[in-house]
Amino acid sequence: SAAEKGGYDYFMLKEIAEQPQAVADTLLGRLTETGEIMLDEVRLSDQDLRDVDKVFIVACGTAYHSGLVAKYAIEHWTRIPCEVELASEFRYRDPVLDRSTLVVAISQSGETMDTLMALRHAKEQKARVLAICNTNGSTIPRESDAVLYTHGGPEIAVASTKAFLTQLVACYLIGLHLAQVRGVKYADEVAAVVAQLQEVPDKLRTVLGAMEPVRELARELSTAGTVLFIGRHVGYPVALEGALKLKELAYMHAEGFAAGELKHGPIALIDQGTPVICVVPSPAGRSVLRDKIVSNIQEVRARGARTIVIAEEGDEAVLPFADHVIYVPRTPTLLAPLVTSVPLQVFACAVADARGHDVDQPRNLAKSVTVE
Ligand code: G6P
Repeated sequence: SAAEKGGYDYFMLKEIAEQPQAVADTLLGRLTETGEIMLDEVRLSDQDLRDVDKVFIVACGTAYHSGLVAKYAIEHWTRIPCEVELASEFRYRDPVLDRSTLVVAISQSGETMDTLMALRHAKEQKARVLAICNTNGSTIPRESDAVLYTHGGPEIAVASTKAFLTQLVACYLIGLHLAQVRGVKYADEVAAVVAQLQEVPDKLRTVLGAMEPVRELARELSTAGTVLFIGRHVGYPVALEGALKLKELAYMHAEGFAAGELKHGPIALIDQGTPVICVVPSPAGRSVLRDKIVSNIQEVRARGARTIVIAEEGDEAVLPFADHVIYVPRTPTLLAPLVTSVPLQVFACAVADARGHDVDQPRNLAKSVTVE
């Protein structure tokens, strides 16, 4: 009913709007004033965490994309090798695991069959399994050695939004906690990130307050035959997630690419007017990344693309090559997916609505896939 949707037309819109609170709730009680990450609830001893020599993340769908982002953060902060794999692939091969491997299973519902089977497969090989899950008492956390719950609240829309953001937060917390427990190479950076995480809910409110141009653009592009998404570094999984949302909701052909791979094939797809959504990292910090993607934007535009650029507030270097710019608040590179994914959620939702589709119940999809 309308009341259940809190006055929004769709649960998805309500859940998008709830993201500042969902992120705040997932952080709540897990950060001390001195910047320590407190994950006592996880029930893996500090010694267990010091023994970890490899992290393996398994998940499906949107949860898999949160894992792809986590890899960048975990490897950077902890220097522990981290692999990310689709649960449906992991379970049918011979991954190399042992008792010092930490397998992180990410699942909103906690009931996805492929993810559950992947974790059983990991446990058989004596790996420790940590679940990141939004549903208390569901099967995946029950069968895991440890669990970190995301506190996103119930997610009703089939396409995941607030669960995705809270999965990212949970991954960051685990990465930072591992770094602290093991003695950190980048102690100052870790402390700074802890502070920056707490600023994210406010930044999300800013993003959400500025989405009208995104909805307008969505209506304009709703008849496009294809939409391409490009990104680098953590912007690459954001591009994949943006494309997935558009496929799921708008039944539109969409693909996400690592911007550096354009020249190895995807650039051949660019035609006059092809919309390309470009996720640009912050020019602060790793500015080389930003410069590289700016030249990618230039390349696709020279071939006729209509470029839609998601960039950090104040980044003027993108302007000469952008047909449209969507600015998001300044956020450190590794945390940027928390803010850059939101315009892509709003975009997909608005394109689907403009095409007359039921945003909450896309055809052929289920909220939780409990079959193999
Ligand atoms: C389904 C949903 C997706 C979700 C995926 C994984 O395909 O439609 O939105 O990302 O399952 O679900 P999980 O509950 O394991 O996160």
